[in-house]
Amino acid sequence: MTAGTNVCLLATSVLELCKAPVTSGGFVHFIEFGGTFVNGTMQINAKGHLTIGGCDVVELAQQYGTPLYVFDEEAVRQRAEDYKQALGSLPKSQIIYAGKAFLTVGMAALVKQLGLGLDVVSGGELYTALEADFPPEDILFHGNNKSISELQYALDAGVGRIVVDSFYELQVLSQLAESKGVVVSILLRLTPGVEAHTHSYIQTGQLDSKFGLAIGNGAAMEAVREAQGLPNIQLMGVHCHIGSQIFDTEAFDATVLLMMDFMAAAAQEGHYLSELDLGGGLGIRHTDDDDPMDVTSFGRFLAQRLQEAAQERGLPLPKLLIEPGRSLVGEAGTTLYTVGVIKDLPGIRTYASVDGGMTDNPRVSLYQAVYEGLVANKMEEEPAHTYTVAGKCCESGDKLLFDVCLPQLESGDILAVPSTGAYNYSMSSNYNQLPRPAVVCVYDGTSEIMVEREQYQDLVRLHKIPQRWR
Ligand code: LLP
Repeated sequence: MTAGTNVCLLATSVLELCKAPVTSGGFVHFIEFGGTFVNGTMQINAKGHLTIGGCDVVELAQQYGTPLYVFDEEAVRQRAEDYKQALGSLPKSQIIYAGKAFLTVGMAALVKQLGLGLDVVSGGELYTALEADFPPEDILFHGNNKSISELQYALDAGVGRIVVDSFYELQVLSQLAESKGVVVSILLRLTPGVEAHTHSYIQTGQLDSKFGLAIGNGAAMEAVREAQGLPNIQLMGVHCHIGSQIFDTEAFDATVLLMMDFMAAAAQEGHYLSELDLGGGLGIRHTDDDDPMDVTSFGRFLAQRLQEAAQERGLPLPKLLIEPGRSLVGEAGTTLYTVGVIKDLPGIRTYASVDGGMTDNPRVSLYQAVYEGLVANKMEEEPAHTYTVAGKCCESGDKLLFDVCLPQLESGDILAVPSTGAYNYSMSSNYNQLPRPAVVCVYDGTSEIMVEREQYQDLVRLHKIPQRWR
């Protein structure tokens, strides 16, 4: 059977197979398996439109244009609160938002207001944080290949922790700190040798990795010894991050045990490490088929396993640091598009093209990520047809949604793709010279711009014509 026939069959039984959004108690539900897929503050209003943060997204699309990233402030606040409560049983813990998921000056200001730390991975992210007056002591600086000027910048800014990833970096940092006459607090990034079940591109804890120092081959302990011998380096603890978009607890469980084994072995050699940073990695829901652990259960799970592991090894309880990115902001983001061309290829599929694509959400083509779509202006209409939603880039692989059942689409409809708050804006590009969309924050019925839409002038702002070609 060809793919085309498959789609035809799908279309004939579309109503049984579709996951139809319906209203109940004001929230958006997907009826398949009675499952509920509620992202943040999503509701349906009397016009049958999707609302987020009390704002009608069809009106947002009119006011700010599309494509548009919508950022649900309340959803982020809630997640941050959940994380704080979940780690509440520990005497010492810190939640450090991984800025790579989504960082703007406004976001850094919100993270500061929420009282979280911030993980940055480049001079550019550090600059963004400092532009928001983010307290440098609450910044943790990551990266497998930080440049000397980035390290210098981090030292000058007085960041709280530098996470050292290699012997080379340890030496460079030690020399820089010495010439500046300061003692710098570091964590060592270790590779515990855990393979998390996620896309191979976003696995990081396995031995064959460009990140960190392996526990298994002795490099990690060697680095601890070396760091302890450097007068301008203060080794506070160890860090690991096993990957991203992880759904199962086993990998996290194994990681806690391996890291605590390592800390016990270090203590035996007389090296007492007081901080354990377990990185980020908790997965989020993109579709109703995804069933990640909720933030509260995840946080409680880590806190409990850490307490047990410390007790079993007779170790004092370290301060627990975690670096959630996606699980704080992912489900708080929704991208709005306007539907343009609808092309029916009889017996094959129907393409609905939207005014964005791989430029604003590269995750589909990069990691085969699967998303769901909602027709924001037709929330109470029955699904009627199966569509493949494509972007507007000159690239066949520029698709956003595959075989999704939606109400009958017409040009001008507003398509909302939920769960795009993480690694979408931050990974967006100007491919085909498409301007990046605006980001608008919604909260309690109000909306405010976090990032302006790029204009054509922005696209050529840094371009120069070499003298000879004029
Ligand atoms: N800490 C470290 C050291 C990390 O490398 C990362 C993510 C995090 C924390 C945050 O992880 P999260 O909680 O967001 O899973 N672009 C990919 C994801 C790459 C993640 C890189 N590191 C994607 O779109 O799936």
